[in-house]
Amino acid sequence: MTIDDAIKALSPQALRMVRNNYVIGLGSGRAATAIVRMLSSYLKKKKLVVKAIPTSLQIKIEAEKGGISIVEPDQISHIDLVFDGADQIDAKGNMIKGGGGALLREKILISIAKKVVIIADESKFVRRLNLKVPVEVHQFARNTATIQIRKYGGIPHIRVLERDYPFVTENGNIILDCDFGEISRPKELATKIIEIPGVIEVGIFSKPDIIYKAKEDGKFEIL
Ligand code: A5P
Repeated sequence: MTIDDAIKALSPQALRMVRNNYVIGLGSGRAATAIVRMLSSYLKKKKLVVKAIPTSLQIKIEAEKGGISIVEPDQISHIDLVFDGADQIDAKGNMIKGGGGALLREKILISIAKKVVIIADESKFVRRLNLKVPVEVHQFARNTATIQIRKYGGIPHIRVLERDYPFVTENGNIILDCDFGEISRPKELATKIIEIPGVIEVGIFSKPDIIYKAKEDGKFEIL
């Protein structure tokens, strides 16, 4: 049994929240990909129609492959549901996201969604967040934001691809992955970082409505 089996097992239950004509936000990453694949067959089976807003080219391609209709954020007035993954989740449900660089679009969709559903494997759950926090920064502020983040106790590293090319987000910005060690007050930290000029978004997210914890034995828990 694998995490993929757990995601398959939880999908029917997670997808039962989908209604005809829903506007659905699609996060990015492996968990989001898995749920989009299941969503596609669920919609066909139940003869449902939805409109989806993908948060990255990766997930847009996946949704297109599955025949799911895509809309732009300017074309909708609300979002019923967001399905997404997470990089780390603490005991209070605070999350670190942005491992794939889609944090800005994910946060925009999550901010107005009526219901946010997160799917993560059990390795992502910790008492306190301690992963590097992805911070999306305008390229002009690469150095100045680095200086400011250091003042808050963070150690920023510019995210790079193979052969050290800087990673550039789909919004044309860079990512500083910032090591703050164990984070005791995630919300306060996020509030401080977002105020730094040139910072576009911070990969600290508040507690979602529903968390599916996928377990290695192929089972899952709902939190
Ligand atoms: C994308 O930028 C992220 O926020 C993802 O949601 C996060 O990295 C989790 O991805 P996985 O589901 O691939 O672990």
